[in-house]
Amino acid sequence: MRIIGTGSARPSLVVTNAMLENFLDTSDEWIVTRTGIHERRVISSENLEDLASTAALRAMEDAGVTPEQIDFIICSNVVNEYVTPGLGCIIQGKIGATCPTMDINCACTGFIYALDIAESYLATKDMKNILIVCAEEPSRMMNWKDRSSCILFGDAAGAAVVTKGDDLKAIRLSTHCKVEALYQKRKLQPTPFLTKEESDGGVVMNGQDVFKLAVSSSIKDIDKVLGMAGITADDIDLYVLHQANVRIIEAIQHFVKQDRSKFPVNLNKYGNVSSASIPALLDDLNRGNKLRTGEMLLLSAFGAGFTTGACILRWSK
Ligand code: ACO
Repeated sequence: MRIIGTGSARPSLVVTNAMLENFLDTSDEWIVTRTGIHERRVISSENLEDLASTAALRAMEDAGVTPEQIDFIICSNVVNEYVTPGLGCIIQGKIGATCPTMDINCACTGFIYALDIAESYLATKDMKNILIVCAEEPSRMMNWKDRSSCILFGDAAGAAVVTKGDDLKAIRLSTHCKVEALYQKRKLQPTPFLTKEESDGGVVMNGQDVFKLAVSSSIKDIDKVLGMAGITADDIDLYVLHQANVRIIEAIQHFVKQDRSKFPVNLNKYGNVSSASIPALLDDLNRGNKLRTGEMLLLSAFGAGFTTGACILRWSK
């Protein structure tokens, strides 16, 4: 497969660290030093499905494809206001497409999982263009009294249109069940038959465990995909990594021993936007003319599950 278009959309409200100081026992200095995040975009009046559709339409415009030319939609989403139908169905209607859709929930690693599904579908089915939309509103999952987690996240949508091609050089997906490191539970509707207790609340995260899992799994994934592609870390032009914490990115940079300039970062402005992180960063790079034809990109992400994934992609747009 190859990527032929990218798009993104973000909520209008900018929430700075100083704004968090108004209701949390925290400081701009603590957040910036520990995470690299200065501000994030948080949904106020917007609906996630509108951000998702805007990102999708921007990617389609960039790719030069019409809604009728989209053969399949893969939507990566952890949570939105609709339990059902899947967000992909809603996006399909909003953008005027008529193809089948599929939702996946692989947390922050969703874009890499979606690329793998797209690669397989393009190789085995009669499809030409697949739209991937990653749309997330982690702000609605947080306990906004928990200063160790709510400061990390923002909301966004990122999208890409992929078509048949030979740009995916290697891909690796993994899941290691580690629910306790990062989870959120919700109460479902009561029934006349229910006898068990259920819990409800915001995201529960063991930050230090997640940090260690993130670094160790990313390093392993990166090593493996470089080996699969038969290239070295020096051959990668840009490391497009999940934007969770700048210290995680620096730890990975240290491991691959590459110049800081190869690690684009936008988490300072947007925080961790879950699976929208990599496609929205790719879109920023694409629209900022920071990507050159023939460049080798290494994408790597991790998220609740614990899911991880990495791939090597030649940029040929
Ligand atoms: N402001 C001020 N102090 C804080 C804050 C805050 N926002 N949050 C925690 N603290 C305090 C703690 O209470 C603790 O105080 P104590 O020493 O008195 O107990 C102290 O700061 C140190 O806390 P640590 O947890 O040790 O801080 P750490 O350096 O580990 O940083 C952080 C915490 C930023 C959460 C880090 O562990 C991290 O980034 N982990 C990865 C998180 C992540 O990436 N999650 C999402 C990944 S998966 C996905 O994307 C869905």
